[in-house]
Amino acid sequence: MTTFAPSLIDTVIRADVRAMHAYAVPDARGFVKLDAMENPFELPVDLRDELGRRLAATALNRYPPPRADALRAKLREAMQVPDGCDVLLGNGSDELIALACIATAREHGSVLSPVPGFAMFELSTRLARLEHVGVPLRANFSLDVDATIGALRAKRPAVAFIAYPNNPTGNLFDRTDVESVIAAARHSGTLVIVDEAYRAFAPDTFLADLPRYDHVLVLRTVSKSGLAGVRLGYLCGPPAWLQQFDKVRPPYNVNTLTQCAVEFALDHADVLDAQAAVLKHERATLGDALRRLDGIVPYPSDANFILFRVDGPDGAATRVFEALKRRRVLIKDLSRGHPLCAGTLRVTVSTPDENALFLAALASSVHEVLSP
Ligand SMILES: Cc1ncc(COP(=O)(O)O)c(C=O)c1O
Repeated sequence: MTTFAPSLIDTVIRADVRAMHAYAVPDARGFVKLDAMENPFELPVDLRDELGRRLAATALNRYPPPRADALRAKLREAMQVPDGCDVLLGNGSDELIALACIATAREHGSVLSPVPGFAMFELSTRLARLEHVGVPLRANFSLDVDATIGALRAKRPAVAFIAYPNNPTGNLFDRTDVESVIAAARHSGTLVIVDEAYRAFAPDTFLADLPRYDHVLVLRTVSKSGLAGVRLGYLCGPPAWLQQFDKVRPPYNVNTLTQCAVEFALDHADVLDAQAAVLKHERATLGDALRRLDGIVPYPSDANFILFRVDGPDGAATRVFEALKRRRVLIKDLSRGHPLCAGTLRVTVSTPDENALFLAALASSVHEVLSP
C-alpha cells in the first residue's frame, strides 16, 4: 500500500485550497428539512410514472446531446427569453458562476458582489484567483448604490453578480438601484450577471430588459422550482457573450437524465407554477406567524425563504438553531457570518404542515433560550 504523504499534499495542493473547508452540507436525515430553499412538493404520482418511462428510454450508453439543443429551445420558449438572446446550460447555476469567473480571470482581476450574498459568488471568485470585492448592503439590506458605483470605478471588476432577489436576505433590490449599478458597470467595463435563482417567487425580472444592454446576462436555475436534484442552471443573454463562456464549459456538463427530466418538467410547467403559487401564499402566512412570535423579527421576502432575527443576547440565535435541531427541524444559522446577519436564522418556506411544525418548534425553542 502506498504511504500517505502529507508533505506531497502540501507541495501539490494550492495553499489557499488547503486552508479552505469543503462546502458543508449537513446530514438532514430524520429532520424537517428547511435549510436549502428546496421546493417541498414532489411531482404528482402519474407524472412521476410517466417521467420514469421517459428516463428509462434514454440512451445512457451514449454521451448526452452536447449542446442540448432540444432543451435549450424549450427553455427559451417557456421562459420567454427575448429574441436575439440564447441560453447556455450549466450543471446547476453554481457551475455557470464558476465558468464566468474562470473565463474572466486575469492578473489583478476582480469580481464584485453585494454582501451578505450568495456564498458561491465569493468562493468561485477566489478559486479563479480573483479578488472578491464585497460591497456591504445598507442596514435595511438595500443596495448601497454609491458604494457599489465607487467600487466599480475603483476596481473595474470584470464581473458583478447581483442576486435578484438576494440570498440570504430574501429581498428584491430596488429596480432603479440595480439599473444605476448596471449603467455604472458599462463605464467600468464590467459584465453584470443578474442572478434570478428565486424568480418563481419574485414580482420582477431583468430578462425582458436584456435587449437594452450589451453587458448584462441573466442567470436562472430550476433548483428552487422543484428540480434541485437534477442540477440545471441557465445563463441567458447575447450569443456573443455565451459563446465565450461556452469555451470553458466542460463538454457534456448537463447529463442525459437531467436534459430529459427538465424537458419533461417544462411540458408540465403548470404543475410547478401552481406549487410556486402555494409557496408564495405560505410565505405570507409564515411571515405573519413569525411576526407574532415574541423575540422574532422576520425580514420581508420575495423568495421562498425568510430571514429572521432572534432578539436576544449574543449567541441566542445559534442556541435557538441548536434547540430546533434537537426538535428535528433543520434551518440555516447565519448569525456568525456577515455582521449584517448577526443574530439571524433563515428558514425555507414549505408545506402548511411543515411550516406549522417549524413554528411550534421555534416557539418552544425561543422560549427555552430566551426565558428559560
Ligand atoms: C442566489 C443563488 N444563485 C444560485 C444558487 C444555486 O443554484 P443551483 O442549485 O442552480 O446551483 C443559489 C442557491 O441557493 C442561490 O441562492
